Amino acid sequence: MKISGTSFTSIWYEEATDRILYIDQTRLPWELAVREMKTFEDGIRAIADMEVRGAPLIGVAAAFALYAGVREKGGSLSRITEMGTRLVATRPTAVNLAYAVKEILNIAESENPVDFSNYPSLLLKKAIEIRESEYNCSRLIGEHGIKLIREVADHKDGRTVNILTHCNAGWLATVDYGTALAPIYLAHDSGIPVHVWVDETRPRNQGAKLTVYELTQHGVPNTLIVDNAGGLLMQQGKVDLVIIGADRITANGDAVNKIGTYLKALAAFDNQVPFYVAAPASTFDSTTATGAAVVIEERGDEEVLFINNQLSPIAPAGTRVHNPGFDITPSRLITAYITESGVS
Ligand code: MRU
Repeated sequence: MKISGTSFTSIWYEEATDRILYIDQTRLPWELAVREMKTFEDGIRAIADMEVRGAPLIGVAAAFALYAGVREKGGSLSRITEMGTRLVATRPTAVNLAYAVKEILNIAESENPVDFSNYPSLLLKKAIEIRESEYNCSRLIGEHGIKLIREVADHKDGRTVNILTHCNAGWLATVDYGTALAPIYLAHDSGIPVHVWVDETRPRNQGAKLTVYELTQHGVPNTLIVDNAGGLLMQQGKVDLVIIGADRITANGDAVNKIGTYLKALAAFDNQVPFYVAAPASTFDSTTATGAAVVIEERGDEEVLFINNQLSPIAPAGTRVHNPGFDITPSRLITAYITESGVS
């Protein structure tokens, strides 16, 4: 997708210089900062500090972090396993991270156990493949999802289709296109009039900072709303459909996604607004039965107490905080899933 008319992806490998480069999302929307992941520790920090975030992207970043790790210090299978365990612990909810680590471990395990010299090139090849695969999944999610938007548009006689989304499930959260935003970009590009209601997404405000940024850069009309406004807009008939991403979809179809998603699903259900979850194969976790079994990442108090690292907290000194990063939307509230294979 484009920033100031130039095409970008969220993370890329520069072959000529053997560099892993990514956009530092903690600096957006104020600054477009491109950082290099030189070492494994750089990768761990980038994921933990959310310089890279969004389920598919942290999977891709983890794969490159493992490559950086073996490039830097060589690698035995036990060292790669240990690095993988550390990566998975940084952000436990999004299954894409564990998925990418497992893919890399499978490659490492299939090699001759006494000759580790091939590891850097093998791991790099796999990391590039995982990135490519996420890119393709997002594009296909867009191609399948656009049909849903077109159907709504066909019933609106040229009037704008209003779509509500939560958090950031756009190209910044993947490699390109996005999950929830991929169908929206393709609809916009093909001339369907679309407008996006963007939940600000407290406490980190990924909607306000990232979704508004990327939609606006690409020219997609959007309006920022506070997290609690969506229900009213649905009651007023101002939302035609909701599309969100997911960090993990369990065997029974529950979608674990950014905190606040569940409340949007309830409001959508009550107002007969279709509620779609867009996600690639790497987000589906058939080994976990239901959303209740998923570890919900607990994040720090400072995210709730301080907006944009301001010096003054928004609550009295000593306020107790609880800050779960994700919630669980039961499958019964989900109209359909948009994946690289279609809408089901
Ligand atoms: O905590 P974040 O910003 O990594 O959470 C991101 C989300 O919840 C996204 O909605 C989800 O990862 C889907 S991304 C395509």
